[in-house]
Amino acid sequence: MKTDPLPLRRIDHIRFFVGNARQSAYFYRNAFGFDVIAYAGLETRLKHEAGYVLRQGHITFVLVSPLGPDHPEAKRLIEHGDGVMDIALEVDNVQVAYETALQRKAVGLVPPTLLEDEHGVYEYATIQAYGDTTHTFMSRDRYRGVFSPGYLPLDADRYSPKTYHTAGLAVIDHVVANVEEGKMDDWVKFYQDVLGFTQLVHFDDKDISTEYSALMSKVVQSGHGRIKFPINEPARARRRSQIEEYLQFYHGPGVQHIALATKDIIGSVRALRANDVSFLRVPQAYYDALPERIGKIDEDIRELAELGILVDRDDEGYMLQIFTKPVGDRPTLFFEIIERHGSRSFGKGNFKALFEAIEREQDRRGTL
Ligand code: FE2
Repeated sequence: MKTDPLPLRRIDHIRFFVGNARQSAYFYRNAFGFDVIAYAGLETRLKHEAGYVLRQGHITFVLVSPLGPDHPEAKRLIEHGDGVMDIALEVDNVQVAYETALQRKAVGLVPPTLLEDEHGVYEYATIQAYGDTTHTFMSRDRYRGVFSPGYLPLDADRYSPKTYHTAGLAVIDHVVANVEEGKMDDWVKFYQDVLGFTQLVHFDDKDISTEYSALMSKVVQSGHGRIKFPINEPARARRRSQIEEYLQFYHGPGVQHIALATKDIIGSVRALRANDVSFLRVPQAYYDALPERIGKIDEDIRELAELGILVDRDDEGYMLQIFTKPVGDRPTLFFEIIERHGSRSFGKGNFKALFEAIEREQDRRGTL
């Protein structure tokens, strides 16, 4: 067997570029239950930006804000609003990963770079993905600090003891891209050719259409299946689809949602609701039809209905999922909470009810 020259271990972290990282950190801490574990900024002698590292289970988010208009990424805020800038992938060897990606026609943005401090060496390199989104190959195999050079553990007195409810979110299950009409296959090919991903599933507009809107989606995954990226594009329909709405307000392709897995979705959603996270709701008729559609599950359907959790089943098992409303003012990024019981799919059986719920929200925004 040939060894993969570009083995990807996992999603190490997701980097968000936001208008006010300090206040976003407060939101992800108090609403989603993350711990703020590290900080970089003026106090740590970083002059051009401030960054906060948030951790929950194996999930790491980094929130970054520019400190002035000359920051090289500052225009992102006007164009995209707050959003995902980079999905960082941990690799065995940054140099080899970057060179291999470029040989496979990726666009390089940052060549292999070493950052060093008294805790060791952190290595990274960055390539272009869809829109202004990037992938950073990184390694902290030789780094023992809290995150990367420049970041220091947060002052113990920065935050009061926890007042929020712990959400039990454990790991990033998948990260979804919205791309322009006709571009989905190009990006599937990018992940196949450059990162060696395989195509897992494919949904066309017959699977994913309501009376008004439609979209198409393909899911690519890394060799071991630990990294999954569904890619959506809008399909022709009577009214404007949620993907077109995203592309309009994000001003181009970008990350639509991040699915965070939990082992106890009922506990997680109770905590998130208590923390004031807003979720999409489907009508009671969805739950009336549920026993017949999905058969026996461990959870109490009345409890799922109370919380608005959706269920789907495939050949391998079932899964529970729920979607937040967009987390910013623009109808762009949102989150999914997911609990898998054998199923490795994405909730095809929920698409119709879910998209009708999204369209009700679009209608309220006047963007349908
Ligand atoms: Fe999803």
